[in-house]
Amino acid sequence: MLSDKMSQALNEQVNREMYSAYLYMSMSAHCNQTGLKGFANWFMVQYHEEMLHAMKIYAYIQRQGAQVKLAAIKAPPASFESPLGMFTQTLTHEQFITRSINDIMELAIAEKDHASQIFLEWYVTEQVEEEENDNDIIAQLKLIQDNPQGLMMLDRELAGRMTTVPTDFSKGIQSAMASAGA
Ligand code: FEO
Repeated sequence: MLSDKMSQALNEQVNREMYSAYLYMSMSAHCNQTGLKGFANWFMVQYHEEMLHAMKIYAYIQRQGAQVKLAAIKAPPASFESPLGMFTQTLTHEQFITRSINDIMELAIAEKDHASQIFLEWYVTEQVEEEENDNDIIAQLKLIQDNPQGLMMLDRELAGRMTTVPTDFSKGIQSAMASAGA
């Protein structure tokens, strides 16, 4: 059972995760357009991760017998600054998501909603990884500065990022994750 307040907070988080997916999808398109195919791949993998984050909450709301209420997804920007600017923007966005997850966790604690606390722990851990990934790439981009050779080497490295995230949710989130080994 979810309180109305928890149900609303989780539905809002679905929207934030969907916006995250949309934002990284747009960044991927921008990278493709500027010839950075590896960066484009990294952001497209990130898009899939965000879709999984949204779908896990979507499934949890339903398993708890509450109503899924989908809202409009805000349009992301279509153009971006340098790769360093993009990853700085990504980190800032992920820090916003971390605060949002923490707020929902605070609500779960205040409501003595143990099931939601256990559910949200996965997101707390995931956000540490999200911010760590961004910080690592920001550090590399700062070392590279304006060196095109360094940028192309990082682009090749980011081309190797692969997704284990399922894309078919038709048989439920657990089944999708099991089949994708996620
Ligand atoms: Fe779903 Fe990148 O936080």
